[in-house]
Amino acid sequence: MWIQSKCGIRIEEFTYFDFSKDYIIKSVDGILQRLKIDHLDSLLLHRPDALMESDQVAEAFDLLYKQGKVRDFGVSNQNPMMMELLKKDVKQPLAVNQLQLSAAFTPGFESGFHVNMEDNQAAMRDGSIFEYCKLHDVVIQAWSVLQFGYFKGNFVGNEKFQALNQVLDRLAIKYGVTSSTIAISWILRYPAKMQAVVGTTNPKHLREVSQAASFSLTRKEWYEIYLAAGNNLP
Ligand SMILES: NC(=O)c1ccc[n+]([C@@H]2O[C@H](COP(=O)([O-])OP(=O)(O)OC[C@H]3O[C@@H](n4cnc5c(N)ncnc54)[C@H](OP(=O)(O)O)[C@@H]3O)[C@@H](O)[C@H]2O)c1
Repeated sequence: MWIQSKCGIRIEEFTYFDFSKDYIIKSVDGILQRLKIDHLDSLLLHRPDALMESDQVAEAFDLLYKQGKVRDFGVSNQNPMMMELLKKDVKQPLAVNQLQLSAAFTPGFESGFHVNMEDNQAAMRDGSIFEYCKLHDVVIQAWSVLQFGYFKGNFVGNEKFQALNQVLDRLAIKYGVTSSTIAISWILRYPAKMQAVVGTTNPKHLREVSQAASFSLTRKEWYEIYLAAGNNLP
């Protein structure tokens, strides 16, 4: 078992971000207390805090590491420059970045495919974070792997995604798995250190998720799913 948690988002009268030393330490102590455990395997800084001072984060990480309360560190929804900024002072490797990715949510790939073009897909909003993670061996933990938009629901079996579901269903028969498994195997096919974060306590769903690691989609199948989700290639 690997226990990971995140900190940095404060939900009070309104939501804001806090990567101060005191808040990081207080957050971890609260998590350990609530879960009745003595350490976290991994702690992620959730979203960027514009007021973040990397030396404060470094002091918090050093203390948590020395005290044995956190073994590994990472980030969530951060771009390459934000990670570089943290690395100015943080000594521990930033081992993980949690990023939104699914067959029906691929803005990071669109901008890559449309480099040097005039169309809207060429707009790069995340600073090539997928390539950066590959370059630095950062584990990409994809979130909302079966969802479209920003928490808009599951696209598997959803009539808004007929073309995509036709392809998923056909490949599900070919590989002897479910369409959800194919959707997750699409994530894992990306050649980086990929992990799919799936929220479930349903054993059937858990089995579907784990089966996605037992085979690999072909290159052509990966692109077919990408195009069936409504994308185009130059
Ligand atoms: N970094 C970020 O900004 C960010 C954002 C969102 C989430 N996350 C991470 O992702 C974790 C999970 O988030 P989430 O609960 O919103 O997860 P999710 O995986 O996006 O959605 C969970 C939903 O998907 C369904 N589901 C799971 N497996 C399925 C399958 N094989 N087939 C069909 N439906 C399936 C679940 O139904 P059942 O319950 O019936 O299985 C549940 O309704 C969070 O704890 C968080 O760590 C991170």
